[in-house]
Amino acid sequence: MAAIIEVENLSKLYGRQGAVCRALHEVSFEIQPGAFVAFMGPSGSGKTTLLNIMSTIDKPTQGRVIIAGRDTTLLKEKELALLRRDAIGFVFQDFNLLDNMAIQDNIALPLTLNNVRTEEILRRVEELSLLFGIDNQLHKYPYQLSGGQKQRAAICRALINQPKILFADEPTGALDSRAASELLACFQNARNLYNTTVVMATHDASAASYCDRVMFLKDGMICGRLESSGNAGQFFKKILDMVAVLGGKSNERF
Ligand SMILES: Nc1ncnc2c1ncn2[C@@H]1O[C@H](COP(=O)(O)OP(=O)(O)OP(=O)(O)O)[C@@H](O)[C@H]1O
Ligand SMILES: [Mg+2]
Repeated sequence: MAAIIEVENLSKLYGRQGAVCRALHEVSFEIQPGAFVAFMGPSGSGKTTLLNIMSTIDKPTQGRVIIAGRDTTLLKEKELALLRRDAIGFVFQDFNLLDNMAIQDNIALPLTLNNVRTEEILRRVEELSLLFGIDNQLHKYPYQLSGGQKQRAAICRALINQPKILFADEPTGALDSRAASELLACFQNARNLYNTTVVMATHDASAASYCDRVMFLKDGMICGRLESSGNAGQFFKKILDMVAVLGGKSNERF
């Protein structure tokens, strides 16, 4: 099967001479369509930088990112905008919902901007809000929702265009463990239903154990990879062992 994301020899330097920060160093990997992948690593290891470059929000210093067979480093700004609109959804840690719009309108916003028919918008909002368990919250405003509900609304909005890939940076960072596991189960449902490829950054071994694959970053380099056999409990233990080997703390956060 052709990979949906190919990352080749990717490096990112920030800053100028004298004060250069190497955020990523010669990173290469492939992700298959429909995979649920986590990047783990300590603070500053390059997770956000990598997600931002894969999702075309940022540009690499060196190397290539190929999304669905298209080399994003060769695309013009207009072509990139279309690729982002049609193939990529992004969920930020702080949700980024618009406070003065009801949840239903927040979720539908990308479709409204794309001139999709009202019936089709309503159908998709209903389907996703049911899948994510926020169908009773659609007429509320963001301030009336819990953190977990807001995060799920943000994910519905990111999925409303039916992107091939959903990127999520620390999606469970602000959630308690119950809200986090509900959210991760929603990611799995979205993957199973739409074959969406889900790529997330996380510090949290228990969040990563919901994925089929975890790649570990340290100092901007990939220093370990693990595949799940399908048993989340066993995978969680393997991830904790890897975190310990790679020099994380003894608790579950890396
Ligand atoms: N705009 C920037 N300018 C300069 N340096 C940056 C910039 N963004 C990130 N960095 C540096 O690049 C490195 C990687 O940062 P990044 O945000 O990717 O880490 P992270 O793994 O996401 O960390 P965290 O877990 O804290 O979110 C860090 O050393 C950071 O200080
Ligand atoms: Mg980060």
